[in-house]
Amino acid sequence: MNILILGGGGREHALAWAVLQNPKCDRLIVAPGNAGIDMIAECADFDIEDGEAVVGFAVEESVDFVIIGPEAPLAAGVSDALAAAGILVFGPSAAAARLEASKAFTKEICDACGAPTAAWARFTDADAARAYVEAQGAPIVIKADGLAAGKGVVVAETLEQALAAIDDILGGAFGAAGAEVVIEEFMAGEEASFFVLSDGETVLPIGTAQDHKRIGDGDTGPNTGGMGAYSPAPILSDEVAERALAQIVRPTIAEMARRGTPYRGVLYAGLMIENGEPRLVEYNARFGDPECQVLMMRLGGQALDLMLACAEGRLAEMAVNWADDHAMTVVMAAKGYPGSYAKGSVIGGLDRLREDSHHMVFHAGTKAVGGTIRANGGRVLNVTARGATLAEAHARAYGMIDRIDWPEGVYRRDIGWRAL
Ligand code: AMP
Ligand code: GLY
Repeated sequence: MNILILGGGGREHALAWAVLQNPKCDRLIVAPGNAGIDMIAECADFDIEDGEAVVGFAVEESVDFVIIGPEAPLAAGVSDALAAAGILVFGPSAAAARLEASKAFTKEICDACGAPTAAWARFTDADAARAYVEAQGAPIVIKADGLAAGKGVVVAETLEQALAAIDDILGGAFGAAGAEVVIEEFMAGEEASFFVLSDGETVLPIGTAQDHKRIGDGDTGPNTGGMGAYSPAPILSDEVAERALAQIVRPTIAEMARRGTPYRGVLYAGLMIENGEPRLVEYNARFGDPECQVLMMRLGGQALDLMLACAEGRLAEMAVNWADDHAMTVVMAAKGYPGSYAKGSVIGGLDRLREDSHHMVFHAGTKAVGGTIRANGGRVLNVTARGATLAEAHARAYGMIDRIDWPEGVYRRDIGWRAL
């Protein structure tokens, strides 16, 4: 079959790599792709947030199946446009993707189905929001309701920080995404990510992961999109996962179906776990980036069969074929990230690295110029490895990094420290 993946980061490189291992894939196109993806698949350039443009391209190129990577096309209704045109698609409708696009919506769903999560309130009026925060005290969590590229959340340790965050968000710092502010109780515990597929009814867990959000070793410094991840997450034991399924995920899927907006796609539940009890932090309507890279490394070619079954409503007949393995990805970023950084520095040594089912460098932000690979974003490479143990995956990933020649790159030395 002809397959189209939308997106151009490390997540989509990993999806492309896994899909290509499945003999069902005859032709793979990724839009827009990047320099790493271009080495294994065709890349195409059109507006992936424009449903009509995506449908037009898919019809023109006889695409049988579309996999949507990032949240923006989901929120823009690209899945709906494809479904209306009769094209098979992996990725929820815009109505279902509200589980990521609106934090207040997710909290409403949690309340409706009894899923454990932080106590919360929503405001459009700054004075009312301030009064609420003053009554609750710090620490407290302030969030822009809408999509803000991971930047719309402030975990405020003091009242002053909380009040400043309210002013920022309702003052327009996030545009329409900040028209409403969601204020949450601060939850203590350890965070982990739980990934399930749902076809609207059946729920199939496909893996757990933990990521490192801070730029610096020891989880210090500013927040980023994620500096590394590993799978499985030891804190998400079978028991905790079963609890999360029973109390949070399955009730959410049932509530979405009950409302006539069934959730079909991958649901990424960010959980806070304390004393073995999971509570929901947030949902994402897509694979995490870089969590997807470690999940794909572990799933390999069966990822395509699972995504197809999910899109076709056949998840009840599927099972994941688990290897008892571990995967780790280490993000190499451009110096200065998550602040301002330069583009264009040359990355050497990539062609000398062995790449196989245990070693892969996924490109997140690269560009080919002449015969060279150059940095073209904040997060640039995802150096990913698999092993029988997490320690082995760790040794393999850092072994690859040692052979990459990129003086302008920075990365964390301690990915996986909690689990190692
Ligand atoms: P979110 O975008 O909602 O996942 O928030 C980003 C990060 O903020 C999460 O990954 C958590 O580390 C933190 N966070 C969000 N909500 C809470 C909460 N209610 N309590 C503690 N930490 C939170
Ligand atoms: N790594 C976190 C995310 O993809 O949202």
